[in-house]
Amino acid sequence: MRIEKNYSLKNYNTFNVEARAEVVAFIESVADVFEAKKQFHNLNKHFVLGGGSNTLFKDNFEGLIFKNEMKGIKITDSNQDYAWIECSGGEEWQHLVDFTISNNLAGIENLSLIPGTVGASPIQNIGAYGTELKDCLDFTDAVDITTGEYRRFSNKDCQFGYRDSVFKHELKDKYFITGVTVKLSKNKKYNTEYADIKRKLQELEVTELSGKLMSDIVSEIRRTKFPDPSVLGNCGSFFKNSIIDVAFFNKLKLSFPDIPGYSDCDGLVKIPTGWLIEKAGWKGRRSGDAGVYEKHALILVNYGTATGKEIYCLSENIVHDVEDKFGIHLEKEANIV
Ligand code: EPU
Repeated sequence: MRIEKNYSLKNYNTFNVEARAEVVAFIESVADVFEAKKQFHNLNKHFVLGGGSNTLFKDNFEGLIFKNEMKGIKITDSNQDYAWIECSGGEEWQHLVDFTISNNLAGIENLSLIPGTVGASPIQNIGAYGTELKDCLDFTDAVDITTGEYRRFSNKDCQFGYRDSVFKHELKDKYFITGVTVKLSKNKKYNTEYADIKRKLQELEVTELSGKLMSDIVSEIRRTKFPDPSVLGNCGSFFKNSIIDVAFFNKLKLSFPDIPGYSDCDGLVKIPTGWLIEKAGWKGRRSGDAGVYEKHALILVNYGTATGKEIYCLSENIVHDVEDKFGIHLEKEANIV
């Protein structure tokens, strides 16, 4: 296991902010997790890092970082209708998507081009274009960082919600996710419900769908909306969409007749936070090298030398302003460390 001390994390977070870690352990096996924890038990905190695509380092990290480097993807089981794919946590998410497409398995093509690693995917139940990981995750394998004990979490055990799971609450920082197993369909079932996808399919006059085509369409939509982190530092959606009750939504509609909202069956309405931030006048604004992306207001970007603190400050200013204007408190999707 490789160990680095006083190590720069600039290349390990997609915001490209400078931050140093006291110790980084590059984990290649389950045994490495317990070994690293034992060796550095005197450090007072730890953090598990995947691709750093949902993390904002506000400060240097005084503690131990576990960098997941566990690799491997394989089909572990199969029947007439489904196949089960086991993927190690250190794999790039996109490698898993590509693997499933080349094996003609349907289920995660709408999650194409999401940056980050497989190990991070169940933590926030990654989602896009009407699909969430929870729709096909069979189980998550993990190791207890303190005891070294292995545990398998069923889909139900993960307590998935909108960009949410048990790993963000009572089990926060307790487990190192070693891998996931997804159950995918052999029957070419694709989710085409999202408006952007429908539009694209009509435009292309598609008569026969394939996983590859769905993945290409999703990737194209994402490229037009989201900045490529290798060109412009960002972590995708910085905030979650906002969920409010229908009575409050109707009240807001009186002052903001064009406010979009998507109802669910529990009397709740999901408001696109991108709309709220744009309406509050933040879209395209910049403070030094920290800014709100000009094409999508949910995304904060680093134009070059912004620090984690500056990006955090910008996000707090947005939270306060949106709260003043709409009475809605924005929740951050990004993990602030
Ligand atoms: N909108 C604006 N202004 C903006 C951006 C969006 O008004 O600057 C409004 C529009 O009404 C638009 C609506 O927001 O119709 C929805 O926008 P979009 O389709 O881009 O989706 P989103 O709700 O902003 C969510 C996810 C994305 C995911 C897309 C597509 C969250 C926090 N974000 O964004 O996920 O790719 O849907 O499914 O749920 C991520 O989690 O990092 C992420 C990128």
